[in-house]
Parts: sequence; C-alpha cells; structure tokens
Amino acid sequence: MPAEPGATDPASRAAELRDLIRHHNDRYFVDNQPEIPDADFDALMRELAAIEATHPDLIAEDSPTGTVGAAATFAPVTHELAMMSLDKAFDHDEFDHWHQRLMRALGEGRSADDFVCELKFDGLAISARYENRKLVQAATRGNGTVGEDVTANVLGIDDVPKTLPAGAPDVLEVRGEVYLEVSEFNRLNDSLRDAGLPLYANPRNTAAGSLRLKDPAASAARNLRWFSYQLGVVEGGPVLGRHSETFDYLDTLGFPVNDQVEVVHGPDAVKQYFDRAEARRHEFDYETDGAVAKVDSLALQRDLGVTSHHPRWAIAFKFAPEEKSTLLRDIHVSIGGKGKATPFAVLEPVFVGGSTVQMATLHNEDQVRLKDVRPGDIVTVRKAGDVIPEVVGPVLSERPANLEPWEFPSHCSCGLNEPLQRSDGDAAHYCLNGQCPLQRDGWIEHFAARAAMDIEGFGERTVRLFTANELLSDIAGIYELDFEQVRTIEGFGDISVRNLEASIETSKERGLGPLLIGLNIRHLGDTGAHVVARAFGHLDAILAADIDTLSKVDGVGPTIAASLHAFFADPANQSLIERLRVAGVSFEGPEVIDVAQTLEGCTVVVSGSLEGFSRDGAKDAIVRRGGKSPGSVSKKTLALVLGDSPGASKIAKAEELGIPVIDEAAFVSLLDTGEL
Ligand code: IVH
Repeated sequence: MPAEPGATDPASRAAELRDLIRHHNDRYFVDNQPEIPDADFDALMRELAAIEATHPDLIAEDSPTGTVGAAATFAPVTHELAMMSLDKAFDHDEFDHWHQRLMRALGEGRSADDFVCELKFDGLAISARYENRKLVQAATRGNGTVGEDVTANVLGIDDVPKTLPAGAPDVLEVRGEVYLEVSEFNRLNDSLRDAGLPLYANPRNTAAGSLRLKDPAASAARNLRWFSYQLGVVEGGPVLGRHSETFDYLDTLGFPVNDQVEVVHGPDAVKQYFDRAEARRHEFDYETDGAVAKVDSLALQRDLGVTSHHPRWAIAFKFAPEEKSTLLRDIHVSIGGKGKATPFAVLEPVFVGGSTVQMATLHNEDQVRLKDVRPGDIVTVRKAGDVIPEVVGPVLSERPANLEPWEFPSHCSCGLNEPLQRSDGDAAHYCLNGQCPLQRDGWIEHFAARAAMDIEGFGERTVRLFTANELLSDIAGIYELDFEQVRTIEGFGDISVRNLEASIETSKERGLGPLLIGLNIRHLGDTGAHVVARAFGHLDAILAADIDTLSKVDGVGPTIAASLHAFFADPANQSLIERLRVAGVSFEGPEVIDVAQTLEGCTVVVSGSLEGFSRDGAKDAIVRRGGKSPGSVSKKTLALVLGDSPGASKIAKAEELGIPVIDEAAFVSLLDTGEL
C-alpha cells in the first residue's frame, strides 16, 4: 500500500518517507520481494525529493533520494586515469580498416605486428586501487571520468585480492570486469522460480544489481567473480614493455586473469582468434559479447595514443547476433495509435542474446508470408545486445505435418466488428474505425510517452484502467481528468494522484514538437515533427497552411504534407485541438531562427557519432542550412564527416570516389562557411 501523507510537518514527513523508502528498497534489492508497485515507490521518492527541494535543510546526509537502491557510500570517484571504452568492429572488413588506420598512424617503417587477443566480458568494468599493498578503493566506470565507489561490495568478491604481496607498487590500479557466472545466474533464477518470484533478466544486469546492493553481506552472497585485464595508475612498479607482460605480472600479484588470452602475430591471426572465440563463446561459464585485440608493445601504445573516447591501439570485435530456436506458440495482432495492426510472435520464452525473449514483432502480413512462420513452428530467434529481437524463420525440418499457414485476421479485435484494411502504401493493415477502443488506448499511451508529452505514470496500465473506468476517452481528456474520480480507482492513493496531476500539468509546456509527435499523425515521424515545429513555430501557423506551403518545408515531402493537412482538416481532430487549447497546452514551437543557407544544394554525409551533435542533430544542422544528408556516399557528396566508430563501407566508398573525408571541427566550419 502506498503511504498516505498525514497532516504532519515536512520534517517528520521527510523522516517517515526516508524510513519507508529504505524499507521498500530492502524488500526490492535485498529480498527481491517488492511489497509495492514501482509506481508507488517512485511516488514516495518524488514526494521526498519535493520536500528536499523546498526544504534543503531537511536533506539528510544518507537521504535515499541521492542513493536509489544504493548505499549512501556509493560516492562519486573521479578516475585519475580515464576508463575509456573500446573502438568496435562488427566484421573482418571493419577490423581490416581499423588495422589500416593503425598502420597509417604509425607511419612508414613502423608496424604493429604482435597483438594480445582477449575475450570481451559482458559484465561491469571496475577499477581497483591499491595503496601500500592494500585495496583502498574500487569504483565503477561510470561515464569514464567519474564512477561510483563500490568498495564495500568489491571487498566481498573473493577473486579480488584485498592485500598484495611484498614488492608490489606503492600505488596500483587494476582494471577488470566483475561478472556473474552463467551457472550461478541459473541457480539464482531457479531458486526465484521455486519461490514463485520474478526472474532476473540476464547475468550482466544481475551482476550490476548485486554490486549496488546496500548490504555488503547480501552482495557477497551473490558470488560475483572478476577478471583483470588492464593496468591503470602505477607508481613504483616494474617497467613493463608489453601488454602481455601485464598479464604475467597481474598473475604474480594474485589477480585472476582469463585463460583465453593469446599473443598472436599479424592481423590474420587476430581474425582467426576472433572467429575461434565466437565459435566457442557458449563453452565458457561467463558471458562474452566479443573479443578484443590490443597492440602488445606498450611503447607503440603510447605513440598511438587515444581519441576522446577510446585508445587507438585496441579494438573490440563484436560477435554476431545470437540465434536460438524456440516454439512459435501463436501470432497475435496489436492495434497501435494510428489503427495500425501489427502482427507479433508469441514465443515459448527463450534466453538469447543476453535476455529472455517471449515476443517479437513480425511487422506486417508480407513479412509473415515471406518468412512463412506458422503457429506451431519451431522458429529461429535472433537477438544482439539491446537490439530488438527478431524471428528469422521456421526450422522446416521440424515442422509438424499439416501445419496451416497463418492468416491475417479479417477483423480488428476491438469488438466493433471492424474489417482490417490493408493499405497499399506501407503493406500494413489498419483498423479505420475511429471508435476502436484499442486504437484509442494506443493513441493516448503514445501521446503520454516520453518522446511526446512525457507524462510520467501514464503508461499502458494506467490508460487501460482509466478508459475502462470511463474517466477518459481521448487525448484531450487527459487534461480534463476528474482527480476525485481517479482517487476512487484502486491503487491510486493521494501521492500517486498528486504526482500524476503534477506531471500532466508539466506536460502542457512540452511545446509544439512533442505535441505534434503526440498527435500521432500518419507518416509524420519524430524527426519530421520537430522539423515542422521549427519551420512553423506555432500550431496555428500549421493549421492555416495549405498543402503546398506544408510540402515546401525541408524534410516534409508531399505524403507528409497531405497527411498533416488531412489530419487538421478533420473536424474531430479540430475539436481535440480546441480542447487542448482551452486546457492550456502550449502550441508554441522553438523559435524560428533564420540560418544562413551555407549548404544550399549540397550533400554532406555523416558517419559515426560526433561529440557536439546527436545523429539527428547533425543531419538537422545540414538540412537547416539548405543541404541534404543521405545515408550513403555517392558522386554528389560534398564531404564525408567522420565521427567515432564510422561505417567502413562509407569510408571505402569516399576513398574510391575521391570525396573529402573531414572531422568534426572541419564540419563545424563547413556549416558556418559552406567551404571545406
Ligand atoms: S580493455 C582502454 N579488455 O569493454 C581499454 N575491456 O568498451 C579499456 N571489456 O568498459 C578496456 N572485456 O567493461 C578491455 N578484455 C577486455 C574487456 C573489456 C570487456 C569491457 C569493459 C570496458 C568496455 C570497453
């Protein structure tokens, strides 16, 4: 039950909240047995944060607001030597390009031939610092510069030496990976399953959660492990010449090193190591998501140096997405906010690519046909890291006899007997009934989502509850909610209602871009919505525009223009807009700024991530100056801008066509002046 705030003074309420939060934190993180829903827990946290914001004198040193699920001792630690990430290659070609860059950087007459090959562990990077042979601090990587102090819990990891033998350096930082063995992860989940409790998603997240437990004893009970693979700051140690010697040295000091480390000669041998590691990845009792090659010579490492993100002397080769087979139990269809009917696979849960998958989109009817997957089939499921899982196809040899192909349902499951209609444009089926309750719920949910109006606590469950209880029937209804009625719904205590009210109020100021996203206009994606918002500056200007004016906006083609126009011409939508206006929702966009058209008619391609621009931001900057920014290099390309981890094929193409390849600084000046 969420706690009801009494008519108490802020100081005693803050103390009460701190106790409650600590209690629920322990139930969640230590017992893995939460007593209240996440939303109620969040409500408690928000209430405490609100009191602390208005009464800073009431902030207790160990306030849980600064330590969600973590001990108050998880203080920030600034790494004396940054903990960098690794450059990545997804295939042999990308590795070859990296190797060529490496050779170019070394210059004529010098070459890096010996590489140390290691596995890339899928755990958590930790830096352990020893002073006078004693472990004094262990910190997470954090953002690379500042991590968190997790010493109390690292002290509970048996693999991590607590003291070093005589002769060890005065100061020594060892970097490595904390992980949970797969067998240990399975054991943990078996006991949770037996107790009827929710399971952990994957070993890495479980390891991360275990390292952040408040109670070091509970953390130690998780049997975390650690592999060391790199030195940080060293004062007073032996002078080593090779990275491979680091491993021997770590070993003599008592640090566990992985037994798959190999020194190989030449780029081909590196690629062979990568392939071997990939083929054997499931033989290990720990999860890996790739292999790493590091230049062995420390002198060459020093000369090669680092970029702002990663060292030039190392590369991570990422394994291909993992595939597993499982039973396709059924194919269901979900109805989205625009009435789009999307088929999705309901699978026998399967652990693949680091998490348990039980649903996967099948996109549309053509995809289901093309893949020829039928309920009852054994299908192959593919998943890589955080990427969306995908059904690859059926295992035909295992298909039961007489399995019928799946037919797209003829009608929407909304109960209004509405036929689903296939659109020619995008091969999708739509429910066109404006009264469809599934569509309505989907739209409201989309309107409240983060990219749109960002109304916290207004997810699928809340929307369903509100529409089923007839508190709400469309997006504008969110701003007309009767909160007294909301209070009568089970699970909505005073705090949740007050928080919901506050986040609805805040959402009114989101502005035109997010509002256009929330309106769920067909063909208008998130980027398009922001482009339109920027071009018009106010919703009324869009309402007044004809198709021609709309389609003149850069990035808005005739399809989007027609769709925008049709949306705002619909009287039902016009009345929604007026209700939003009356409710005080802001219709204003970002200021319309006139930018010099320095790139009029030019094409600039961006590859990799830039420091000062998001992916869309860089594109946007080009488009706003009159240029175009397609996804591939051609003869017409003025320049290729290279960021971090660029695509190898784009570089190769630019080199082949003699297109100038520029860095971020040159890009900024190109935007300004239009000249290279
Ligand atoms: S070396 C400067 N070696 O990968 C290089 N990292 O993207 C520092 N990782 O945060 C890292 N296995 O969590 C290195 N054998 C290995 C690794 C490894 C896994 C992780 C580590 C790091 C990330 C870098």
